[in-house]
Amino acid sequence: MRIAVPAETEGNETRVAATPETVRKFKALGADVTVQAGAGLASGISDAEFEAAGAAVASSAADAMAGADVVLGVRRPSAASLAGVNPGAAVVAIADPYGAEGALAELAGAHVSLFAMEFMPRITRAQSMDVLSSQANLAGYRAVIDGAAEYGRALPMMMTAAGTVPAAKIFIMGVGVAGLQAIATARRMGAIVTATDVRPATKEQVESLGAKFLAVEDDEFRQAQTAGGYAKEMSAEYRAKQAALTASHIAKQDIVITTALIPGRPAPRLITADMVASMRAGSVIVDLAVERGGNCELSSPGAVVVTPNGVKIVGRLNVPGRLAATASALYAKNLFAFVETMIDKDTKALAIKWDDELVRATLLTRGGAVVHPNFLQAA
Ligand code: NAI
Repeated sequence: MRIAVPAETEGNETRVAATPETVRKFKALGADVTVQAGAGLASGISDAEFEAAGAAVASSAADAMAGADVVLGVRRPSAASLAGVNPGAAVVAIADPYGAEGALAELAGAHVSLFAMEFMPRITRAQSMDVLSSQANLAGYRAVIDGAAEYGRALPMMMTAAGTVPAAKIFIMGVGVAGLQAIATARRMGAIVTATDVRPATKEQVESLGAKFLAVEDDEFRQAQTAGGYAKEMSAEYRAKQAALTASHIAKQDIVITTALIPGRPAPRLITADMVASMRAGSVIVDLAVERGGNCELSSPGAVVVTPNGVKIVGRLNVPGRLAATASALYAKNLFAFVETMIDKDTKALAIKWDDELVRATLLTRGGAVVHPNFLQAA
């Protein structure tokens, strides 16, 4: 069985889908691994390290893919790049299929089985395969680092002979995986931290991290969490109450980090231009939702916007990729945990269990067709 690890081709992608550690683990299962030369460089992994772990290094993507049974990617590869893989090869990546129905149909046409890691069910058995959590956790950490870097003052309170530096006030909007890590990081850096969310379960989590919780706790709030643990889209009435509550709070903050998302919907708009205008010069907003439309009205994807009143709005793309080495290490382990379940331990061949709930939840294309229920119209 051959596993291919091509270099990522999207401009801002610094991560890689395998590490020397996961190469060793695949080798121990009897698989051969071929890594495209340079694939790990942006994550601090040299070709020599991959080779020392037992991988072959191929000079081009086409050479890496030739005869592959499994292709590991961070992003969805193009159908054209998969021309040399074995028929029925498993392609495992963050497939990002919404709005990409054309690419999905082409991948179906390439007769590969494409798996979307981000569709992994959030059940106990699949925790080690949860790429949304592994990457969001790092994004939450990095958002605080990026915010601190743009902020022209220190975060912790310092009492020095030259005077006292006050602690920075940091407000986290959205307390999922990224928000919780942002709270923990901001607390460790000595900031005074408050946080808000629409799911009641988050109140205790915020308080257990030593931060103060702020939210409109009405009947709608008490029912805002879906059975899957996600937020619902809130009514216009709730959003107006939420905006009224947070507006005066935001005006007093030094750094605001927004992470709010609703599955399958654009990111909720939590910070209006008026709220930005109320903030002091030198304060910073870090919008982690910028790739999904943004939580702040003024954020711009990939840019640091400085407003006329001196507020910096940080809209970096691919924030986990700003910690490429750590993000790759965790992502590669997520992939290994899933792909391991597809390898027959005795025959050492690819043996996908088509009725496994993890396979059914993540499989987008198979046998020349789009098979995932959410995308059948693309077939
Ligand atoms: P997410 O990335 O979909 O959303 C981030 C946060 O934004 C959520 O906490 C959401 O409630 C919040 N939000 C949405 N609209 C908002 C608004 N208008 N104002 C303020 N906040 C708003 O969420 P993520 O990080 O994927 O986590 C979702 C849930 O899944 C959490 O309960 C988390 O603990 C749970 N989870 C469970 C896992 C497991 O059981 N294996 C693994 C990872 C997460």
